[in-house]
Amino acid sequence: MTPVEQLRESMRKDRQWSFMYSMLDLDLDVSQGVILYLEDVSVSFDGFKAINNLNFYVNAGELRCVIGPNGAGKTTMMDIITGKTRPDTGSAYFGRTIDLLRLSEPEIAALGVGRKFQKPTVFESHSVFENLELAMAGDKRVFPTLFARLGGEQRDRIHEVLGIIGLQEQTHREAGALSHGQKQWLEIGMLLMQDPHLLLVDEPVAGMTHQEMDRTAELLLSLEGKHSVVVVEHDMDFVRSIAKRVTVLHQGAVLAEGSMDEVQNDPRVVEVYLGE
Ligand SMILES: Nc1ncnc2c1ncn2[C@@H]1O[C@H](COP(=O)(O)OP(=O)(O)O)[C@@H](O)[C@H]1O
Ligand SMILES: [Mg+2]
Repeated sequence: MTPVEQLRESMRKDRQWSFMYSMLDLDLDVSQGVILYLEDVSVSFDGFKAINNLNFYVNAGELRCVIGPNGAGKTTMMDIITGKTRPDTGSAYFGRTIDLLRLSEPEIAALGVGRKFQKPTVFESHSVFENLELAMAGDKRVFPTLFARLGGEQRDRIHEVLGIIGLQEQTHREAGALSHGQKQWLEIGMLLMQDPHLLLVDEPVAGMTHQEMDRTAELLLSLEGKHSVVVVEHDMDFVRSIAKRVTVLHQGAVLAEGSMDEVQNDPRVVEVYLGE
């Protein structure tokens, strides 16, 4: 069976429990060191090219920052990776062999591509622990009581994630009572419960205090090496605090790529930002 056939087989409708396939380990081929390949990708909306011959590669275990003025195509790029938007032309591969353009949105999520949207979507009336428990189940309609007898391994994973997101002290608090920043971390934790290979994070620090931003930087940096992470962010101080390699998008294509210093000193980048 090809990886896509394996995935389809594992996601048959008669197998109700999505957590079964969320744990599925497909043959993700990162032998070239690259986990994501977007090549010559274009997409137009009503004749407007939101993505224009984009080439974008992410290495396995890398923490990549993507910046660019409003309308540059950053969110659209994430929509293409996650299967929400189909490009008109070009290719998108997860590892060397998995053709993302042949997969549906839930299939791509099941492969281990997690996405964090700007607005946190935690279950406000459930505790932090229960939120992580629900995320492990993968299916947000399943009530935690169904998992009353969690295995030791699952408990360990929840506690491990609580440590990563720094919410151990809040374990039994209602998620609705958390600060904005804590909710964002909880949501990242919920994505981590699925142990994603690739994590896409859109503007994580919008609305955060400076302290919360520092903590978010630590959190994202701690994921490096274990997960590949793509962070889209407007706040330049924040990007500087976590950036290794930065990609600047402009008019749907890569304008510059390199270290924060390199891209900030690139005259083309300066021009684009001055024009904002
Ligand atoms: N579904 C859509 N329909 C029409 N236009 C869209 C759609 N999604 C994005 N666009 C347009 O594509 C361009 C890129 O948008 P977006 O990817 O959201 O940029 P960014 O996230 O970098 O600010 C914008 O001009 C936006 O208005
Ligand atoms: Mg956006």
